[in-house]
Amino acid sequence: MTHYVTTPIYYVNASPHLGHAYTTIAADVITRYQRMMGADAFFLTGTDEHGTKVAQSAEEAGIDVQTFCDGNSQRFRDLLPLLNAQADFFIRTTDDEHKAFVQQVLSRLHEQGDIYEATYSGLYCTACEAYLTEDELLDNNLCPVHKRAVSTLNETNWFFKLSAYEDRLRDLYAAQPEFVIPKNRYNEALSFINSGLQDISITRSSISWGVDVPWDSGQVFYVWIDALLNYASALTYARPGTDLTSTYWPPAVQLLAKDILKFHAVIWPALLMAAGLDLPRKLLIHGYLLMSGDKMSKTMGNVFDPFPVIEQHGADPVRFYVLREVQFGQDGSVSMEGYEGRYNTELANDLGNLVSRSAAMASRYLTNSTLPDAPSGTPIAELTASMVSQWKSHMDSYELTAALESVWTLVRALNRHVEERAPWNLAKDEGSAALLADTLSELAEGITAIAWTLSPVMPDTAKRILASFGVDPDQALAPGAVWNWGHTSGRIVTKPEALFPKLEPAATSA
Ligand code: MSP
Repeated sequence: MTHYVTTPIYYVNASPHLGHAYTTIAADVITRYQRMMGADAFFLTGTDEHGTKVAQSAEEAGIDVQTFCDGNSQRFRDLLPLLNAQADFFIRTTDDEHKAFVQQVLSRLHEQGDIYEATYSGLYCTACEAYLTEDELLDNNLCPVHKRAVSTLNETNWFFKLSAYEDRLRDLYAAQPEFVIPKNRYNEALSFINSGLQDISITRSSISWGVDVPWDSGQVFYVWIDALLNYASALTYARPGTDLTSTYWPPAVQLLAKDILKFHAVIWPALLMAAGLDLPRKLLIHGYLLMSGDKMSKTMGNVFDPFPVIEQHGADPVRFYVLREVQFGQDGSVSMEGYEGRYNTELANDLGNLVSRSAAMASRYLTNSTLPDAPSGTPIAELTASMVSQWKSHMDSYELTAALESVWTLVRALNRHVEERAPWNLAKDEGSAALLADTLSELAEGITAIAWTLSPVMPDTAKRILASFGVDPDQALAPGAVWNWGHTSGRIVTKPEALFPKLEPAATSA
C-alpha cells in the first residue's frame, strides 16, 4: 500500500514563516502516521519559482533572478530538518527535469486541441498571480486577500479549454463526495464549478521568467500551470534512473490552504483529465493561521517567527502547538502567549508531569525498577484501547486536531488515576504491594500508548518517553508495528530528564 502526500510548493519571494511550516508539519504528521501503519509513503514538498512576483522581488533585491531563487529555495529546504519533517523529495520548478515535463505534457494538450490561442483582457493581482473578476474585488479595486490594487492586463495568450471539463468535474464531485475535505470546501469548489467554467489563459507574453512555451517562442507558461504539474513531474526524476510514477501515482492526499482551493479543486483535476492521468484521491484543505485576525503573509507584514522557539525547545512543541491550537481545517489565531500557555499547561504539566512522576515512582518502588505485566480488563486498560481506536479513526480521516484531543483524554485520565491511587501511599503499606505494581504497570502501559499515538506529531518526545519506559523506540515505531496492551513485563524503567522544562512567563517573547 502506497501513500503519496504533497504540500503546495511555496513561492520563493517570501521567507518561510509559520504558515508554510504549518502545512509542512501537517503533511509530515500524515506521512509518519502512514509509515507507522506500514504504508510505503512518499512525501513531496518544494518551491514555486517562476512568475511575475518572484521576478519582481529579485529585481527589487537587485539580484539575478536564478541566484535569488537559489538562495530563497534553500531557506525553505533548510526548514525541513528544523521542523523535523522527513520529505522524500524537494522539488524546484526551476529544475530542468520539471521544465521538460511541463513542456511535454502541455505540448500534448496543445496537439490534442485542449489549448488554443486568443486575446484576453482582465484584472490581475500580482501577489495572487491570478486574474480576478470585478465582483471578487473590494472597494477601490483592491484584491480581497492582499488589499492591494489590481492592474489590467491585455494579452494574446494560449488558453486551456477548462469549460470543456465542466461536466466531467461535476461527475467527479458527484461520484466522490470526499474528493475535497472538509465539506465546506467541497461545497465551495462545487458551487464554483456549477457557476459555469470559463477557459483560462495559461501563457504569458509580458514576462520571460517561466517555462518556455515550446510551440510559441514569445511566451512562457503561466506560473500556476507550471506549478501544479510539479506533483506529477517530481515522481519522474526524484530518484535518478527510476520513474516512481507507477509506484506512487496518484496522490493519496494533497494538502493546501483555502486560498488556493480553486486551482487545486477545479483547474488541477481538469488538467489531469486532459493529460489522461489519474486524479488525486483527496484534497485536504486547511485554514489560515491568523495573527491579529489576518492571514499571516510577507505581503501583510505580520509574520510569526517559529525559528527562535524551535531553537529553544526543539521542533516537537511547535508541531504540537499548531495542530492542537487550531482546529485542523478551520482558521485560528496563534500567538506567543498562546504557545507559552499550551506549553506550560499541556506539555509541562499534563504530559511532562505524568511521564516524570510515573517513571520516577516505577523506578523507585518496583523491584529492580522492573515492570510486571499490566492487568487487563481494568477501566484504564479499556480507556486506553478506546483512545487508540478513536485516535486511529481520526488519523485515517486526517482529523489531526481531533486525534490529539483523543490522546489528551487519556493523558488527563492517567493523571487523575495517579491522584486517586496515590502510589506514594500504597508504597508505605506492604499489603498494597500488588495494587502498587498493578497501578505502576497500568500507567506504564497507558503512557506507552500515549507515546505511540503522539509519535507522528512529537517524534522526539515519543522516543524519549518510550526509552524511559524500557521500550526500544525503533522497534515500537517501526513500520507496521502495533501497540497492544499487556507487554510491560520485564521492562526496566528509568526516569527521563524533564521533557518540557516549565517556561517562565514571557520567557520566549522577549
Ligand atoms: N506557490 C503557490 C502554490 C502552488 S502549489 C502548486 C502558493 N505558494 S505560497 O507560498 O503562497 O504558499 C501557499 C501555501 O502555504 C498555502 O496554501 C498554505 O498551505 C501555506 N500557508 C501560507 N501561509 C499560511 C497561513 N498563514 N496559514 C496557513 N497556511 C499558510 O500559493
